[in-house]
Amino acid sequence: MHAREIRHGIHAIIMAHWERRLFDSLIPLPDGTSYNAYLVEGRDATALIDSADPALQDELMEHLRGVQRVDYIVSQHSEQDHSGAIPLVLERFPDARIVCSGKAADLLTTHLGVSGDRLIIAEDGRTIDLGGRTLQFVHTTWVHWPETLCTYVPQDKVLFTCDFFGSHLATNDLVVTDEGRVYEAAKRYYAEIMMPFRAIITKNLEKLGALDFEMIAPSHGPVYDRPAFILDAYRDWVSPRMKNEVVLPYVSMHGSTAAMIKHLIDALTRHGVTVHPFDLTVTDIGKLAITLVDAATLIVGTPTVHVGPHPAVYYAAHLANLLRPKLKYAAIIGSYGWSSKAIEQITELIPRLKVEVLGTVLHKGHPTAETYGQLDALAASVAKAHREDALVTV
Ligand code: FEO
Repeated sequence: MHAREIRHGIHAIIMAHWERRLFDSLIPLPDGTSYNAYLVEGRDATALIDSADPALQDELMEHLRGVQRVDYIVSQHSEQDHSGAIPLVLERFPDARIVCSGKAADLLTTHLGVSGDRLIIAEDGRTIDLGGRTLQFVHTTWVHWPETLCTYVPQDKVLFTCDFFGSHLATNDLVVTDEGRVYEAAKRYYAEIMMPFRAIITKNLEKLGALDFEMIAPSHGPVYDRPAFILDAYRDWVSPRMKNEVVLPYVSMHGSTAAMIKHLIDALTRHGVTVHPFDLTVTDIGKLAITLVDAATLIVGTPTVHVGPHPAVYYAAHLANLLRPKLKYAAIIGSYGWSSKAIEQITELIPRLKVEVLGTVLHKGHPTAETYGQLDALAASVAKAHREDALVTV
């Protein structure tokens, strides 16, 4: 895609990776992704903000073929999807210097072999004058690495944010045209990348709130020409508010756990609790992460494999523990053939989830009337806890 102007003298170079389906060999990308770089021209100097993933570095270099000068390469984040093409850009523009945070200096050196004498360290608040246009660097640590920063251009009221506010979405829309579609992609991104850092993101949102900007230009997904849309979404996601929702990842091998899950869904439904069930043998783990952003309760359903939980359940529980969602309550249900330590082992997998356990229901063989009664009691406990917390129903 050709470079497109977002402000006079500021061009977005959006490299859409339409066919990419997995990020970090972990995160499903149903809608692909993009790597965005921005060319900011001043009267005296030109800056390139971020670069591209090595997979599309040739496309970036093609864009830069007709560009006469790049004096600064602003590396807002050292992860390779934004910094990977920097060595090629440095070759193409041998006088260019890299501008980055102090913590990024080490990362760029160790990850890309960049020479230290080409680095300019941008302290928080430092500015670089391009001639009639200023780059102001704002440290926004832990969105989502310790070195991340944003770049503000006050003359144009544009804020460049790299991963912060980004969405994994390949599109030829320069700016957001379908807020519903971008909302889901941005929430997926937040859930998988940002969610563990909620507290510091809250501080970063306050810090950026002091700036007067009318456009957010992330390095994944389309540009926001209505920043309130994504700012409001982030404020909601990081807030302590939870919803009257249960996330229910499960696996069933011979139907016993599936019967329990079906009964529990019906019971929770009768109590007016929204349920998000995920059969982990077929689920998109990103969808699971999205629902974890708001839900108050996690209930894990598992059969027993070699005395422990099914490996897919093991993985989902470990992932939830890494993502540290707001979750206030949890429960474990499941079945076994002859013996099980599934409840103990799942509990050990989620020490970072500060949850109150509302119950466990583990049944030998196919569920009976007694098992269903226990599940009804569990559903009632969940509903009561949610009611007492006055959780929002949406
Ligand atoms: Fe888009 Fe953290 O890299």
